[in-house]
Amino acid sequence: MSTFQAPKGTYDLLPPDSAVYLAVREAIAAPLRRAGYGYVETPGFENVELFSRGVGESTDIVTKEMYTFTTKGGTRLALRPEGTASVLRAALEANLHKAGNLPVKLWYSGSYYRYERPQAGRYRHFSQVGAEAIGAEDPLLDAELIVLAVDAYRSLGLSDFRLLLNTLGDKTCRPAYRAALQDFLRGLDLDEDTRKRIEINPLRVLDDKRAAVRAQLTGAPRIADHLCEECKAYHEQVREQLTAAGVRYEDDPHLVRGLDYYTRTTFEFVHDGLGSQSAVGGGGRYDGLSEMIGGPELPSVGWALGVDRTVLALKAEGVELPLPRATDVYAVPLGEEARRALFTAVTALRRDGVAADLAYGGRGMKNAMKSANRSGARFALVAGERDLADGVVQLKDLDSGEQTPVRLDELVATVKERLR
Ligand code: HAM
Repeated sequence: MSTFQAPKGTYDLLPPDSAVYLAVREAIAAPLRRAGYGYVETPGFENVELFSRGVGESTDIVTKEMYTFTTKGGTRLALRPEGTASVLRAALEANLHKAGNLPVKLWYSGSYYRYERPQAGRYRHFSQVGAEAIGAEDPLLDAELIVLAVDAYRSLGLSDFRLLLNTLGDKTCRPAYRAALQDFLRGLDLDEDTRKRIEINPLRVLDDKRAAVRAQLTGAPRIADHLCEECKAYHEQVREQLTAAGVRYEDDPHLVRGLDYYTRTTFEFVHDGLGSQSAVGGGGRYDGLSEMIGGPELPSVGWALGVDRTVLALKAEGVELPLPRATDVYAVPLGEEARRALFTAVTALRRDGVAADLAYGGRGMKNAMKSANRSGARFALVAGERDLADGVVQLKDLDSGEQTPVRLDELVATVKERLR
């Protein structure tokens, strides 16, 4: 152990578990790639303003959870707490929306930072894979993204997740709803912070988890009763298309989400094996975000799935992902000449796509064989001076223990054949 430990609320990904994280990221990305989403990568930090304006001044993310700092040059930056504002900023900056091909479809994978109270499933550094479709208002696009997330979860073998669906209205109907909600909320017995929130974004108050607040919220005006005809029709099409794709959802009129930029469709995936931090992913439409950060009108929709929580969900369901072997062949050289010969053999195997490793450090046979077994390899490649003089190496099947000499010049072909 060193003097240092990983900071509070963070953890390290180490082999062999780290392979599961890679596989989860890959499984979430695969359906996106097949649906025309291109990979985007943005910096780990941005101007603070991008998030305070984009994610919203009434959210916990902005008021309490951002890691902010001032650079030596005096610029106020924040470690990114989420991906949507950054991805939209990048698309606008590169004028991707002007290339004529709307929506601009992008996917991303990376680290995000929120100064939250750590607990199981809630970390200060976590990982998301996300997708954004920028510049099109089409209920089929909302449905597409939801279907792609469902397909990703299913491809991982998950089944105990549910999709919660809601709509938050648009600039036509939301203002009247907002005013009605504010009237209702102002009459309640609430603390100072919550009162402020009523004035900035009253919908966020509906998301309050405290029992004393929740109790007062029964009878609050419901968005469903205030939707304009366009929003109703739009939402109906999203629902129809989900049903047509065999995706089950639950209408949840209380689903607000923790970010201010949402309009119309909002959704969350919850997993029933995770306890209180049950949201494995979420997203929705954000038709006004572009204008909020100084861009043109670009109605958009997206989601982000939490990689850490998806891994926890796999554990909760007892799903073991079929991971490729880290090592197929492990070479055990006996003596200096064999070390050099097997190094060359291992290099040739790797160049031909076989995962191969070698016992480094000039250890004894027994010790090196232990490493071979621990590596999980299918075969050990053992050679001493006599083998090399005969132009062979011993290929030992580590499952059966059976050992056969193989000519060095036929090694790659033989190994590949036997691995098939
Ligand atoms: P979000 O709901 O804040 O949405 O985060 C998405 C997912 O990230 C959550 O469902 C959860 O699985 C994971 N997550 C969030 N915070 C933590 C944490 N502290 N520890 C572990 N996992 C966490 C967004 O971030 C939006 N940008 C999604 C989006 C994309 N909306 C439109 N486009």
